[in-house]
Amino acid sequence: MNIVTTPDSVLQMTLHAMDRTPDPRLRTVMAALARHLHAFVQEVKLTEDEFEHALGFLVAIGQASGDTKNEVVLAADLLGVSTLVALLNNQDPQGESPAALLGPFWRANAPVCDAGENIARSETPGGVPLEVSGSVRTADGQPVAGATVDVWQASPVGLYENQDAAQEDMNLRGRFQTDAEGRFHFRSVRPAGYPVPTDGPCGDLLRAQLRHPNRPAHLHFMVSKPGHKVLITQVFADDDENLESDPVFGVTRKLIGRYELEPGGQRATLQHDFVLEPGEMKFPRPPIP
Ligand code: BEZ
Ligand code: FE
Repeated sequence: MNIVTTPDSVLQMTLHAMDRTPDPRLRTVMAALARHLHAFVQEVKLTEDEFEHALGFLVAIGQASGDTKNEVVLAADLLGVSTLVALLNNQDPQGESPAALLGPFWRANAPVCDAGENIARSETPGGVPLEVSGSVRTADGQPVAGATVDVWQASPVGLYENQDAAQEDMNLRGRFQTDAEGRFHFRSVRPAGYPVPTDGPCGDLLRAQLRHPNRPAHLHFMVSKPGHKVLITQVFADDDENLESDPVFGVTRKLIGRYELEPGGQRATLQHDFVLEPGEMKFPRPPIP
């Protein structure tokens, strides 16, 4: 009879129930998920209290998500899953990745800017002026003209504009086009490191694990052009004390930028080049509106 007998029989019945899924990828992914979840529950001998707690955590991360943050994305980030997906899907021949996790703060439709424009549109106390330049190329070195370079960053006090009523809407966000030689440049302020949001269930988890929440300072980039895979990445400040303890594991050697401070510390520069792969130009779903 096809009814539950032992704990192991539940997995067999679950796999059997899902066996007729017409979409082959959904069938493979869900079967593997069921096998791993069942193995996990068996390995840790999950108690009823722990199960209730885990379900409550999932409900809470959904409830904590809204217009200014996405706690579900944050949970995936803190578990290392977002970085793992970025690396698996964007490896170069050396196994390193020029891509990084999207994070919870990308917004679609950032202002379209002219080359050289300043994305710091509000007062930016303590901000060292930063000039960013670089190029977008294909793997064989051809310039990619007319690529969109979408940039977003935290302010010098470590807050994204959507987290901070003192900043103008879309402050420190902008979209630039590369020129005929594939080059772009813009002005901004040097970003500061900042804590990931800790006021929700993910913050409780970090505290329970004695983990600090501070990301090393970085700029986010999303580089796109039809006919190329969208490159989502981050460029980190090379002098940040948290480069080796990023709570969301985003730092690879390739993503550590050359932020140079002019003598006197009045102005910083960053030069960084991006390489696009051929592929479909598919944008992620924005984590916040
Ligand atoms: C970010 O870089 O914007 C970010 C990434 C993961 C968690 C929180 C923030
Ligand atoms: Fe960030």
